[in-house]
Amino acid sequence: MPRFRFIRAMLVLAAFATLRMAAHAGTQNFSDGGTVTDAPFGIYEHTPVVLHTLTNKNGVSVSIMDYGATIVRIVTPDGNGKPGDIVLGFDHFAPYMAKPPYFGATIGRYANRIAKGKFTLNKTAYQLPINDVSGPNSLHGGTTGFDKRLWKTEPVDSDVPAVRLTRLSPDGEEGYPGNLFVSVTFSLNDKNELRIDYTATTDKTTVINLTNHTYFNLSGGGTILDDLLTLHADAYTPVDSTLIPTGEIKDVSGTPFDFRTQTPIGMHLKEVGGKPVGYDHNFVLNKGWFSQWAVAAEVKDAKSGRTLTCATDQPGLQFYTGNFLDGTIRGKNGQTYWQYDGFTLETQHYPDSPNHDGFPSTVLQPGETFTSSTVYTFGTE
Ligand code: GLA
Repeated sequence: MPRFRFIRAMLVLAAFATLRMAAHAGTQNFSDGGTVTDAPFGIYEHTPVVLHTLTNKNGVSVSIMDYGATIVRIVTPDGNGKPGDIVLGFDHFAPYMAKPPYFGATIGRYANRIAKGKFTLNKTAYQLPINDVSGPNSLHGGTTGFDKRLWKTEPVDSDVPAVRLTRLSPDGEEGYPGNLFVSVTFSLNDKNELRIDYTATTDKTTVINLTNHTYFNLSGGGTILDDLLTLHADAYTPVDSTLIPTGEIKDVSGTPFDFRTQTPIGMHLKEVGGKPVGYDHNFVLNKGWFSQWAVAAEVKDAKSGRTLTCATDQPGLQFYTGNFLDGTIRGKNGQTYWQYDGFTLETQHYPDSPNHDGFPSTVLQPGETFTSSTVYTFGTE
């Protein structure tokens, strides 16, 4: 193609992309003083990626993009009322496609690990992709999990700022059986509660475990090791060297996993072991197996004066200290992310449940609706 025609074609394409992105901008107002603002964030496979920002009247905002149903930013005031972003990630869209370590993403169809990527349902054996650096296992839904897909934005009936993202995960996607229709709704109320509600239905027996993989840093920089953590868990699920649960449900008493009273995250970190060293474990929440609500975790950061509470109806919580962050990723404001620069509170079912009869079941049958809800509350003191 002669050069000028190529340039003209490129200009036309760019103009179309701009127009399509402009079609995705706008603000909605809610009676509680909150808003949802949509703005273009990038282009994925010729389709605009939209950033939905939920803001409440206290100046707290949560920005979610439809690629990966990913939390990109959470801005909250610190103890002096100064707003700041408290989650790891990137300022722009492009690096999100370069397979970062799940910053802020929705994880599915099965969050966490499945040993050797194998499980059996109704006498049929399934093989998932082996995609984990820590061992021959399937991690976070496989090579192209829910975190790497563009979700559809759907209307949501809500009195508070909210966004609902959905997708149909086709039968056989990443090796999982059944067409799975999944939705995740993010909402933010004026009590500074970010609520995440998941639902899913299937047309074949399948397994499901959904979570959100936000890395928090309540000071917006530095390590998280001095943060004070309380975990309402009397037990955890010990793992082998490839981070697969042994099946044991172990009492935390006398171990570095005892966070039942407020403890600095870094206090017993070295005793945890692992390669790289740090927490990357599922805690068995005291609330029990079934779907009643309870506070799972509380974090206080003296440096910023911020607090974070996590409540859920899920039986487990993966507490991860960003052990695999090794300085190779440049994130927001050019910050380089290192080990212990963020922590995750991934509410979920236990890892590798399809291979452990002693764990709460993650099987979803046709005709049933899977639901899971988590609330993160942002405060100061
Ligand atoms: C999860 C896992 C970790 C690690 C991160 C992503 O939280 O449990 O082992 O794989 O995701 O780096």
